[in-house]
Amino acid sequence: MTSDNRFYVTTAIYYANAAPHIGHAYEVIGADVIARFNRLLGKNVFFLTGTDEHGIKVEKTAAKHGLSPKAFVNEIAEKFKSTWAYLDIDYSKFIRTTDPEHYETVSALWKMLQEKGDIYKASYTGLYCSGCETFSAARDLTPEGHCPIHQTPPEAVEEENYFFRLSHYKQAIIDHIEAHPDFIYPAFRRNEVLNQLSELEDISVSRAKHSVSWGIPVPDDPEQVIYVWIDALSNYITGIGWPKDMTLFNQYWPADVHVIGKDIMRFHAIYWPAMLMAANLPLPKTLLVHGFITVSDTKISKSLGNVVSPEDLGQRFELDNADPIRYFMMTSTGFGQDGSYTDEEFKNRINADLANNLGNLLNRTLNMLNKYFEGQVPEPDQTKIELLDKNTLDDIKAHYEGFRFNEAAQAIMEQVDKANKYVNDSEPWTLYKDGQFQTLANVLYSVLESLRQSALLLSPLTPILSRRMWEQLGLASDLEQAHWDWILGEPLKPKTQTCLGAPILPRLESEIVGAGKKK
Ligand code: MSP
Repeated sequence: MTSDNRFYVTTAIYYANAAPHIGHAYEVIGADVIARFNRLLGKNVFFLTGTDEHGIKVEKTAAKHGLSPKAFVNEIAEKFKSTWAYLDIDYSKFIRTTDPEHYETVSALWKMLQEKGDIYKASYTGLYCSGCETFSAARDLTPEGHCPIHQTPPEAVEEENYFFRLSHYKQAIIDHIEAHPDFIYPAFRRNEVLNQLSELEDISVSRAKHSVSWGIPVPDDPEQVIYVWIDALSNYITGIGWPKDMTLFNQYWPADVHVIGKDIMRFHAIYWPAMLMAANLPLPKTLLVHGFITVSDTKISKSLGNVVSPEDLGQRFELDNADPIRYFMMTSTGFGQDGSYTDEEFKNRINADLANNLGNLLNRTLNMLNKYFEGQVPEPDQTKIELLDKNTLDDIKAHYEGFRFNEAAQAIMEQVDKANKYVNDSEPWTLYKDGQFQTLANVLYSVLESLRQSALLLSPLTPILSRRMWEQLGLASDLEQAHWDWILGEPLKPKTQTCLGAPILPRLESEIVGAGKKK
């Protein structure tokens, strides 16, 4: 049984064959925004992320580095963890598919599917793309016979493998998609899945040990290795204890949102539901399918030499925190569409929204407060105005709930614009000169209150900048413990002592030669 107050969000698990880049960062930031927003609503959130560590690609890359697969994936998993720390990703658990408990989950799931009669052995000849870690049908290849994603020719493989009776679940999956409009988001992706379902074949779920050794052995058949989607997809249930310790599982399953990229939608929208149905487990509520991030409209790829890591970006712009990266990634495009990173747009958006619009408003308001009220929040009277109305607040909430983070940010920035305009129009300096102290108190109070609200509203996107604002506003409460209801329900208390500090974000000045320029 699940209670309404719990919320389970996951990212895909990342292949442990290279360090993370901004494309991976995009996905994990999205999941973190969802997690933080739901915590702000008072939900009990479990947020799972991690690394996918088995498979040919990892085995080959490790060998190239002269390392054992395990030593190699240990290094990569650490890189992911340190990048996630850099990005302020507040996950509950980092799962690795080499964790011993994951072996137990995968073996248990395998046995269940086998007992159900959904796993059988057959001889197989197929075209295998090691980039996708999957067999491709000839009709899915490019005219030259290459994988459309990796642009490399697949390998012809002939082996005796185990198969999962995927075709058996075809109708049940179609019915589920049709009965649950929230299952695949954005909605335009649903047809793509329904098309893929039209020609559904059983899938190979193991490889001979002599061709792939780096994986979880098939129970009771040590000559075969489980390969690869049963291993990868079941991370979502290992992460909450299935089947060994069911406490978390009973609380959190089914997942509310699996955040994934469009390239792995098929596996999540077809394979995973079929496996769960076979195991008699409920299906996740929503697959949030995002687009791909390119660098200056070019696919991120090692061979093109345009891999940008979040840390590179931070260093180039001399950032002292990763919020600008988080903010840019979530606002550059609608979550679901493809997006492009360029240095120019990054710098312009961050300067316009965070440094100028938001940062300057805080800075100049607190400066005036120091000058006119010794830094203390003044006492307003009945005539003060509220800059944020309930309707706007509800719209922002709906944007967050609908994963429209760019629209949420835009609506919050409109609030900041409104507060800036209000300061300019009210001219606090003139009110002071004219001795209109009550009006001055009302104006500054309204702007400070609006800044407090903006800090809270932005906190899922920019947790560090929001905390800096919170501290400068003199708020003693812990922003991490804040609740959405505080936005309208816990206004600033008069006499609170604010503490003007350094600008929350210095303007970005650096220009970068090369990487971010249009090719
Ligand atoms: N290991 C599998 C997923 C298994 S999930 C049970 C995998 N790994 S991956 O490292 O290739 O990709 C992990 C996630 O990162 C995927 O959701 C993928 O779409 C996403 N991205 C990888 N490159 C990306 C961009 N350039 N832009 C946005 N997301 C990208 O697939």
